[in-house]
Amino acid sequence: MCGIIGYIGKREALPILLEGLKRLEYRGYDSAGVCVSAQGLTTVRSPGKIKNLEEKLAGRSLSASVGIGHTRWATHGPPVEKNTHPHADCHGRLSLVHNGIIENYSELRRKLESQGHVFSSDTDTETLAHLIEQLLSDGASDLPSAVRAALKQVRGTYGLAVISQDYPDVIVVARLGSPIVLGIGDGESFVASDASAILGHTRRVVFLDDGEMATLTGDGYQVRSLDDSPIQKTPEEVDWSDEQAQKNGQPHFMLKEMLEQPDVVRNSLRGRLDLGDGLAVLGGLRDVADRLRQIDRLIIVACGSAYYAGLVGEYMIEANAGVPVEVELGSEFRYRKPIITPQTAVLAISQSGETADTLAALREAKMKGALTLGIVNAVGSTIARETDAGVYNHAGPEVGVASTKAFVSQLTVLALLTLFLGRQRQMSVTYGNKLAQELLHLPDMIQKILDQRQNIELLAKRWAGASDMLYLGRNYLAPIAFEGALKLKEVSYIHAEGYAAGEMKHGPIALIDPGFPCLVMCPEDSLYEKTKSNIQELKARGGPIIALTTEDNQEVSQFADDVIFMSKTIEMLQPILSVIPLQLFAYYVAVSKGFDPDKPRNLAKSVTVE
Ligand code: AGP
Repeated sequence: MCGIIGYIGKREALPILLEGLKRLEYRGYDSAGVCVSAQGLTTVRSPGKIKNLEEKLAGRSLSASVGIGHTRWATHGPPVEKNTHPHADCHGRLSLVHNGIIENYSELRRKLESQGHVFSSDTDTETLAHLIEQLLSDGASDLPSAVRAALKQVRGTYGLAVISQDYPDVIVVARLGSPIVLGIGDGESFVASDASAILGHTRRVVFLDDGEMATLTGDGYQVRSLDDSPIQKTPEEVDWSDEQAQKNGQPHFMLKEMLEQPDVVRNSLRGRLDLGDGLAVLGGLRDVADRLRQIDRLIIVACGSAYYAGLVGEYMIEANAGVPVEVELGSEFRYRKPIITPQTAVLAISQSGETADTLAALREAKMKGALTLGIVNAVGSTIARETDAGVYNHAGPEVGVASTKAFVSQLTVLALLTLFLGRQRQMSVTYGNKLAQELLHLPDMIQKILDQRQNIELLAKRWAGASDMLYLGRNYLAPIAFEGALKLKEVSYIHAEGYAAGEMKHGPIALIDPGFPCLVMCPEDSLYEKTKSNIQELKARGGPIIALTTEDNQEVSQFADDVIFMSKTIEMLQPILSVIPLQLFAYYVAVSKGFDPDKPRNLAKSVTVE
């Protein structure tokens, strides 16, 4: 996620902006820039690290009391200087920084170009600068009015800060879907994408809510809605440490990122569902849509959690799109002499886009003539650049080593790919719309699970002493059993194995005794009775049972030692809900054992060696 900092007041703006940007480095970025009210407006930008920006600023005397800064995590356009924020209008009299995605930027850009605007970047953000410029020249009474009118034409998400040399005493900010916090100082004001960037200057903050705009001056702030009605916001005192501020006040990035998952699913879906025709709108696949209509096999290559996401994708796509799928470990694929034909597509799933085993598999597939696709979170990463086409997760940077929000986003994008491929084949518009509607309900269902995390914390403390655990699930939930076991292994170091529930009697049941708890996923789905029998088999051997079932179930609590409830959705999407309690369980077990879930021993966030 990009980082935003802004200042207006009586001190020099530039040092405050640079310090704020450095405090935002933890968020991950690929370029940085500032704009200050000196010599009109002066903008300096640089790809790469903030020190590159500082080198470009060295020796320049830019005395200014107003300025904005930005660290960019690319979503539209590669990380090069022309795409680095801040972005300006045609004449450089206005500058803005933005965090989020403007979905309808292409149509807005076409209209603005027809009105004579000249663009200099590939970004969606630059469209906003020219739109505000156009509205000012069309007669908007002031900068806040022009920004308000522009945002009414925008579809998407934004955290935004705008300055103009024609309105030198204000910064206009707005929020929809991307956090914005105001800092209230003595004769000075601040704006940032999170409080960590400004806590060194003030602890009096105002968190904007979605649909709110604010006008900042050195003397204070005014908050109004998009329909220009005043909103009363009372500053609060934040007593977080800098590190806590980076985690939105949560103790660990892993928990912060799990709590982001409702918004992550919204962002992964944003602008990608056509409810009229029951279609997935995946711009990154547009150029290969015809080839995808012809493929007769899809091979998914990935590692770790991404591999388990691929296994869920296999169930989704085969059952709902009718395309044969096989899922291969990146580290095994190219040593297997895979059979690739011109009708084979190979899909690489990777959060980092840099995993060496997955990249090697992708290159092998490409060399053999496969159509290569990617589901990647890191924009501009190696895997993203080397595939023929793909879909970005839009999950924002994932700092926790154990994948949580990226995994849920991968499942969400795989559901979109299923819809895309299915509607190219036998899937009806009716079923396509049903799938689309169910996807749109997921964020609220995820939130309901997150809201019961205290129960899961208590349950985790009860089982944290186990030395072994078995995770069981059937069909779509078998891969979730594997993923749940991986989460527990990764952060709590408890030995855990995931198994297809039906496989238990072929060996693993020999392990079961009163000291060997099993977590069994048994939603009331088409295989519920069979899974219930598995639970009885475990109970008969004294195995303790933690059951994960759907909220209308009345009987599981009669034979399980602990029960976790979740909403019920269509079977194809139940894995997206089922993994959330398993993530929380692993996290709370690790914390109760005194471990740091953000830095698990022996693990790296991105495994760039084979
Ligand atoms: C998952 O919690 C682990 N961090 C690890 O298995 C990870 O999923 C795997 O290394 C793949 O990483 P990638 O998605 O960046 O390719």
